[in-house]
Amino acid sequence: MNQQLNEVQIKRYLEEPAEQFRVFDIPYLEKTKKCLDNFKIEKEIYYTNYGDNNLEDLKEFLTKIGPNTEEDINLMNKTIKDITEIVMKSVDKKYTHYWLAIRVTLPTKEYDIKRWHCDGNYFWRKGENSPRRQDLFKFVTILQGPGTFFLKTTPKQRELYNYIQKEEIKNSKARDSDIKYRESRDLKYREALDLRIEGIRVQAEKYQAAIFISAIDERNICGIHSEPPKNVPRMFLSIVPCTKEETEMHNSQKKVGGDKFYLKYLKYKQKYIKLKSMI
Ligand SMILES: [Fe+2]
Repeated sequence: MNQQLNEVQIKRYLEEPAEQFRVFDIPYLEKTKKCLDNFKIEKEIYYTNYGDNNLEDLKEFLTKIGPNTEEDINLMNKTIKDITEIVMKSVDKKYTHYWLAIRVTLPTKEYDIKRWHCDGNYFWRKGENSPRRQDLFKFVTILQGPGTFFLKTTPKQRELYNYIQKEEIKNSKARDSDIKYRESRDLKYREALDLRIEGIRVQAEKYQAAIFISAIDERNICGIHSEPPKNVPRMFLSIVPCTKEETEMHNSQKKVGGDKFYLKYLKYKQKYIKLKSMI
């Protein structure tokens, strides 16, 4: 049985040295579950907020997703704010701000083949020896649609993963030495990795959230994860707590919808379609 998402459980997880990721149940009220399930998604749109501004522009963003009632928009707004509050209460007090992202997507074949990976150190944080788990994690949940996949590995399976990854990168380079972002865009690489790796595949389901360690270093082991096949509309929320200074590095990107990141994504998507038709 999974633990419930609350301050105590998040803190406990962040102190637990061995676990790469953990899935939590979110104790939603029935009316909230109904709202999440029925929220209409008609547009592909992204929201990014680097701040502590209590998500004051969130409601405006939510109105753009589809023809939803005022009541559902208000409840969705409150739900996201409540989740953010739980996460922020659970972390080191120096993290007064957050990088919060919502990705609303329409069905795509882009993730029919998994993209197993670790994220990395989002804010290039350094510790005395290395950053702590509390400084290297991401919170994710699905408000609608399929949840993220995680790979639970034993130390041996982790070694195997690292070995296969190196080998398949070599194979990928031999096929095409120029390809950029090869770990995302080389579908043959993704397919080979997905076929060869070992471990237990865990998918976070609806009304669940997950926290995973994002980077790998001497003290921490990242949570290997992949987007799920996205064959239905999806609304994904991620939160990385950060300091005020860290938000300032990124604040220029803050916009509702159509932000720089989204434009980059669209460019990538066009290229992806071309790439796919070549395979
Ligand atoms: Fe990722």
